[in-house]
Amino acid sequence: MPTAALLIFTAFLATCGFVCASGPQLSVVDVKSYTKVQSHGNSTLYEIVANATTSYAIAPYLVELVGTRYDMGYAYGTFFGDRIEKIYDAFLKSQLGKHWYDDALIDVIGIALDWQWNNYLSIQVPETFKEELDGIRDGASAAGCPGCGSYVTRTIVLANMPGDVQDVLYILIREAFPSALHLLPRKASQEKVTHRQCSMFGIWGSRTENQKLFSARNLDWNKDSGINKLKVITVYKPSDGAYAHATVGFVPLYGALAGMSASGITVHEANLEEDQITFNGFPWVLRLRYIMEKASNLEEARSLWENTNNTVGFNHMVGSGNDAVAYAMNKSKYCAVAMETMFNYTAFFPDNDPRQANALYTNSETNSSDHIGFPVTEAVWRTNHGYDPIIREHYEWSQSPTSWSMQRYVMIHEAITSYERNGISVGPMEAINITAIVGDKGHHAYDCMDNTDGTNVLSVTYDPNDKIMYTAWESKAGENWRPACCSSYLKVDMTPWFS
Ligand SMILES: *[C@@H]1O[C@H](CO)[C@@H](O)[C@H](O)[C@H]1NC(C)=O
Ligand SMILES: *[C@@H]1O[C@H](CO)[C@@H](O)[C@H](O)[C@H]1NC(C)=O
Ligand SMILES: *[C@@H]1O[C@H](CO)[C@@H](O)[C@H](O)[C@H]1NC(C)=O
Ligand SMILES: *[C@@H]1O[C@H](CO)[C@@H](O)[C@H](O)[C@H]1NC(C)=O
Ligand SMILES: *[C@@H]1O[C@H](CO)[C@@H](O)[C@H](O)[C@H]1NC(C)=O
Ligand SMILES: *[C@@H]1O[C@H](CO)[C@@H](O)[C@H](O)[C@H]1NC(C)=O
Repeated sequence: MPTAALLIFTAFLATCGFVCASGPQLSVVDVKSYTKVQSHGNSTLYEIVANATTSYAIAPYLVELVGTRYDMGYAYGTFFGDRIEKIYDAFLKSQLGKHWYDDALIDVIGIALDWQWNNYLSIQVPETFKEELDGIRDGASAAGCPGCGSYVTRTIVLANMPGDVQDVLYILIREAFPSALHLLPRKASQEKVTHRQCSMFGIWGSRTENQKLFSARNLDWNKDSGINKLKVITVYKPSDGAYAHATVGFVPLYGALAGMSASGITVHEANLEEDQITFNGFPWVLRLRYIMEKASNLEEARSLWENTNNTVGFNHMVGSGNDAVAYAMNKSKYCAVAMETMFNYTAFFPDNDPRQANALYTNSETNSSDHIGFPVTEAVWRTNHGYDPIIREHYEWSQSPTSWSMQRYVMIHEAITSYERNGISVGPMEAINITAIVGDKGHHAYDCMDNTDGTNVLSVTYDPNDKIMYTAWESKAGENWRPACCSSYLKVDMTPWFS
């Protein structure tokens, strides 16, 4: 079945020649120890000490939050309150682009984001998370940052926006503060800011070592914003009986950009630009935590998902280590499920789904149709487009085989099937390899060149059956900035943290 997308991929491989055949240079480094930095109540902040040199100028943190919801948040606020403001400021500016760098405008945007949160996005957030956020506000305030509570919730709002943040801010300011409209830069002068892309996959069964599930997520977002000064793994151990779980990301962004739970659930996200959107729903960075702390298998995760509300368009995925164990005994049908979502609609996809196999893209100039979906058994993956017919109807970006989303989708297909062709069982290194290939490092997917190309800020591979996460963040800054997938993957065994 020679299809346009696969042919383009082959041409792409041919142009990168000898070097790319080896795949990105993987640096996987063990954790040697955790140095205690500070504690509050039963919660503790540690610095992660690697067992070898890493690419990070500043070591990532691990924060263990233990206690009531309020205690957990309070400790987080106490640990980071002194640094949140500066990083929030830099992050906000990187989201906006430099034509928006006007102090009066930045203030209005802050107020507009608070208005958004208070009136829409916070409404369906469960009380437990609101208590944590109150704790952050009070802890950070006691640490000298009275505004930090809002900086955290504003960041949650920003993370929940569709790809075109500037367009949404226009609408927001028009609705909330019409008198401030004159502060906005004219549309024509807007620079292009990098849109959120991202990718995810899950692979299991006969494709993997010991039939384990491996899953992964890349976040391709605003690079080099300064947020990588506070790289953090947050472990949540609420005293109310919810499952312990961990997120991987940056302060001040509180919630799951990426995460894995003690019950082997992994959560994933990628932008999916749809025209049916709302902010009357559950912000995804907290909704993914809700899944991790309440579900122990895919069936429970699906039911939690169906009983909460979508917001704007996203591709999500949930992986389940327990389903991998059940699958090996013929007691589960699949181990990861992709979810294509928009307002009031979710399409669930197991592996090898006919909606993918049947998806066609018609070139409007030639009227020729090409297949654009290549599902296989025992794996699911997504980049930034969908396959459900209704989701496709409302999709706002190109689905052409040459789009960057399609190219990365095909790269994952190629990586999975090439291991199959070569009889290689996927273990941690192979799973990290697939993750690193598809993390955005510019148009040289198979090679980590020594340059600032790409937008990949977070790259994580999970081994939920053994409770191990391989976590990489964007490293350094300016000319020395490098994408996460070309930085060091820290091998973090979560077993001691989840017990
Ligand atoms: C990573 O993928 C590339 C491209 O398929 C391959 O050449 C390389 O051998 C792979 N590396 C590992 C560790 O599997
Ligand atoms: C750290 O590295 C040394 C030397 O490479 C190795 O012998 C040791 O087992 C490693 N320790 C850990 C905790 O990975
Ligand atoms: C820490 O945890 C222990 C055991 O659960 C509890 O008795 C104690 O009150 C907690 N301390 C604080 C400061 O929360
Ligand atoms: C989801 O949205 C519906 C319709 O707006 C609403 O009735 C329902 O309460 C929402 N669900 C939750 C969990 O907030
Ligand atoms: C959501 O979709 C269902 C059908 O799946 C429909 O009955 C319902 O009216 C929709 N709700 C809204 C608020 O559009
Ligand atoms: C493509 O199909 C449309 C509608 O069937 C037709 O009007 C148009 O002329 C066709 N274009 C080409 C290049 O064949």
